[in-house]
Amino acid sequence: MKTGLSQDAARIQAHLDQVLHAFGTGPVAQAMGYATRGGKRIRGFMVMETARLHDVDGARALWPACGIEALHAYSLVHDDLPAMDDDDLRRGQPTVHVKWDEATAVLVGDALHSLAFELVTHPEGAEAAEIRADLALSLARAAGGQGMVLGQALDIAAETAPIPLSLEEITTLQAGKTGALITWAATAGVRMGAGDLEPLTRYSKALGLAFQIQDDVIDVTGDAAKVGKAVGKDAAAGKATFVSLLGLDGARAEARSLVDAACDALSCYGDKADTLQQLARFVISRQT
Ligand code: IPE
Ligand code: IPE
Ligand code: MG
Ligand code: MG
Ligand code: MG
Repeated sequence: MKTGLSQDAARIQAHLDQVLHAFGTGPVAQAMGYATRGGKRIRGFMVMETARLHDVDGARALWPACGIEALHAYSLVHDDLPAMDDDDLRRGQPTVHVKWDEATAVLVGDALHSLAFELVTHPEGAEAAEIRADLALSLARAAGGQGMVLGQALDIAAETAPIPLSLEEITTLQAGKTGALITWAATAGVRMGAGDLEPLTRYSKALGLAFQIQDDVIDVTGDAAKVGKAVGKDAAAGKATFVSLLGLDGARAEARSLVDAACDALSCYGDKADTLQQLARFVISRQT
């Protein structure tokens, strides 16, 4: 699985670099390249891997794989802004608003958001126009005010909530801020192959939560130099997380059972889904 992940990560990087080459050398274009560099590429890999599972041509799947990574990169640039998490370090480098300025970071986020839809609807991606429209509509829903943006808003609101969020409220928050894009990523290949969305939706809902739990665990246990972003910030900011509610051991146990559920959801694929099951285990064992 790790070899497949790093091979697809390299393909995604090369493709993004090639697309962004046409944007020229202005500050926004430069910073778009900067913001899309690095990262584990888990979401892009999910698109490639679910496409493979549904016999979709990898060269076509590469377009939406880059699209979700552009959208994710936008979400990180804005997440790091002073008005949000106010972070200086991302993927081991200064954040975009630190290296350039806040206006550039806002515009880079806006431009990466547009780029995501350009990539997802590119004619060299999904062959049928109606599938490209379906990818764009589902991504708009996942990214917007019912999905990632809603989760981000709940996350910020929770910092000043008078009483700690319940488990149910934290689950809703995290399903939006992290889960929505992960579900899109894990179903894009199914959409391209016109397959049954149910098993991978179930997989990704459980995995999305487990993914954010591990992110929250890393915030408590990680070392910034290795993680490539600041740690110890969630508790300081009063963030609502599974760790704040269940403690480290409770959160880790919850993540393990979510990964079991994610793997079970793919039993209908037999051993063709081995890689996605390994990816689920990797998500909760990763330290970055
Ligand atoms: C970090 O996502 C932000 C969250 C949604 C928790 P990743 O851990 O996938 O970040 P990169 O892309 O590898 O940097
Ligand atoms: C960010 O969650 C989620 C999105 C960018 C949508 P976090 O704020 O926990 O991510 P990190 O820890 O900064 O990567
Ligand atoms: Mg945040
Ligand atoms: Mg953050
Ligand atoms: Mg975090």
